[in-house]
Amino acid sequence: MRIILYLGKGGVGKTTISSASAVKAAREGKRTLILSTDIAHSLADALGRDLTDTPIEVEKNLFAAEVNILAEIRKNWAEFHDYFSSLLAQEGASEIVADELAIMPGMEEMVSLRHIWLAEKSGKYDVIIVDAAPTGETMRLLALPESYQWYASKIASWHLKTISFAYPLIQRLMPKKNIFRLMPEIGAHMRELHKTLQDPAITSFRIVLNPEQMVIKEALRAQTYLNLFGYTLDAAIINKIFPENSSDPYLQALVAQQKKYREMIFSCFYPTPVLTAMHREAEVIGADALADLAEEVFKGESPTKVFYHAQRTQEVQKENGKYLMKLYLPNVEIDRLQMNVKGDELLIEVNNFRKNIVLPSVLVGRKTEYAKYENGSLSVFFS
Ligand SMILES: Nc1ncnc2c1ncn2[C@@H]1O[C@H](COP(=O)(O)OP(=O)(O)OP(=O)(O)O)[C@@H](O)[C@H]1O
Ligand SMILES: [Mg+2]
Repeated sequence: MRIILYLGKGGVGKTTISSASAVKAAREGKRTLILSTDIAHSLADALGRDLTDTPIEVEKNLFAAEVNILAEIRKNWAEFHDYFSSLLAQEGASEIVADELAIMPGMEEMVSLRHIWLAEKSGKYDVIIVDAAPTGETMRLLALPESYQWYASKIASWHLKTISFAYPLIQRLMPKKNIFRLMPEIGAHMRELHKTLQDPAITSFRIVLNPEQMVIKEALRAQTYLNLFGYTLDAAIINKIFPENSSDPYLQALVAQQKKYREMIFSCFYPTPVLTAMHREAEVIGADALADLAEEVFKGESPTKVFYHAQRTQEVQKENGKYLMKLYLPNVEIDRLQMNVKGDELLIEVNNFRKNIVLPSVLVGRKTEYAKYENGSLSVFFS
């Protein structure tokens, strides 16, 4: 069983690369589900087929579904939703506003996670590929299993407080079933899924990016937080690379710029493998075009392969009251090392390669004190 999640900034090619991977996996004979959890779906466009939230077989072994998060919340989470929207309506919000507000933060992420969990539990698939929403939202999704207990207890205590001063009202509004009974059950599912997502033999996270500055920055942030949450980044995929042999001066300038960023991506993600895909002349639509793109990205390999599973590439620890960031940089002979913090970025120059790292919030604003390289890891100490 494999779960592969593609992350990346808006428009970089997440849907395209995930569906390409799914088509290739299915054509290798693996029962494959591609699941879009993005509210703005485009999986149907990429596959050239209409999709619903029930998986349909697009071609042999390839199943696809677009989860309609909002409809799902209305249907399956009606109890939560009714309860909170009636509370909010009592507070003076119009019914429509209350309806919107009652979709609490975390609710969408919870529904997405539940779908991954259900698909995994169904035992119907060898591979589940998730076409996720752009990075920010997906990071919230991935932080959720960890924060769920906190979240659940907040809701429960809010519920208790509300009950104590408005008991009669609540009695009238309270849905038939006790929604809070569901919380521990969901909690158990979350914990189970969390374990699965943290198991590198089962789950791979891959970042899709383009050779552009803003895109790289967001990808680096995703790398930092994946590491922090204990998820394994298995590969980065540079998509939309322009061909180098163009005679068009405008394109040549872009190519030169892309080249610089491509090199940066390789050193910033080292030792995580970096795969590449050229910018095609036309949009990549339909199973055959997708299979062709997958061939370019994965060469002779299967997209379901675990591309990297050595260890976390970054770790933040606290030692004797000091924070340190440990960076896994195997096989590097360090002759020259320079470190610099700029805003929320740590710039490291080791010999002649530069590595940019987006710092987690806990380290932003701190100064670097010293660093040491031991057993393939560079530890950077912060004051
Ligand atoms: N290698 C490529 N060559 C040419 N066009 C591409 C390539 N990769 C993706 N595209 C096109 O770029 C557009 C955006 O791609 P895609 O929808 O996969 O990005 P996304 O990251 O999923 O976007 P969103 O964040 O909006 O979901 C699509 O029209 C797609 O066909
Ligand atoms: Mg998309």
